[in-house]
Amino acid sequence: MFESIADKLSQAEKIVFVTGAGISQESGIPTFRGKDGLWRKYDAMQLATIDAFYENPKLVWEWYDERRKNILAAKPNAGHTAIANLEKYKQVRVLTQNIDGLHQRAGSSQVYELHGSIITIKCTVCDFKEKITGDFSELPPRCKCSNMLRPDVVWFGEALPQNVWSEAIMQANSCNVMFVVGTSLAVSPANMLPIYAKQNGAILVEVNPEETLMSKDMDLSIRSTSAKALPELLSIVNK
Ligand code: APR
Ligand code: ZN
Repeated sequence: MFESIADKLSQAEKIVFVTGAGISQESGIPTFRGKDGLWRKYDAMQLATIDAFYENPKLVWEWYDERRKNILAAKPNAGHTAIANLEKYKQVRVLTQNIDGLHQRAGSSQVYELHGSIITIKCTVCDFKEKITGDFSELPPRCKCSNMLRPDVVWFGEALPQNVWSEAIMQANSCNVMFVVGTSLAVSPANMLPIYAKQNGAILVEVNPEETLMSKDMDLSIRSTSAKALPELLSIVNK
């Protein structure tokens, strides 16, 4: 699959991955857009907003609670593992829109969580922030300060964590190859990262069974799933 860019891959010093929900699809975690994007009768796009949370915190919390349990029961797949193993040969950075922590569980050491983490909670008012360890006795859970706790994720209408985003831009600007894996690139500002990389001379490779909004800008589009395509990378880079 990667023969046409084999030389560029072996010469590359730094490889950056921009990943989205599609990379975790083969771990059994549904994607957002398309037929998978419905939970009960709700569209994911309607639940993942700050307005939806304040209108119906219990409903939004039930969605996150169910997803967190599903994610904790899931395992990283061959795609996540291939990216982690690539660290033996290259400088690797993972800029992920996923909140599932599967890259870290697969062993990747340099992961930037652009949209936060489903495994962490924070207070809607005070500075409290913590990893979730057990189950909640009520939804929405309450902080010691008596205000509502919320998942530590980025909702539509919210800014990305400033330090994570500026680091992501630096990584995109300084890589030789960028892989864009399992994302529809429908969501800004994460969908700017391939543009930054290309402007700085990186080659762009997409791994996605479907065409995306930026397929025309790619140097190579692999129309396969990530768990099938990414393990092949290792054999090419390792030559
Ligand atoms: N391997 C690779 N790609 C896949 C696979 C697979 N096995 N299965 C599906 N895909 C692709 C789909 O073709 C689609 O292009 O993954 C992409 C998933 O797109 P989205 O559901 O839009 O997910 P993502 O791009 O991560 O969404 C961005 O939107 O809802 C918000 O904050 C949420 O982080 C999320 C953001
Ligand atoms: Zn608080």
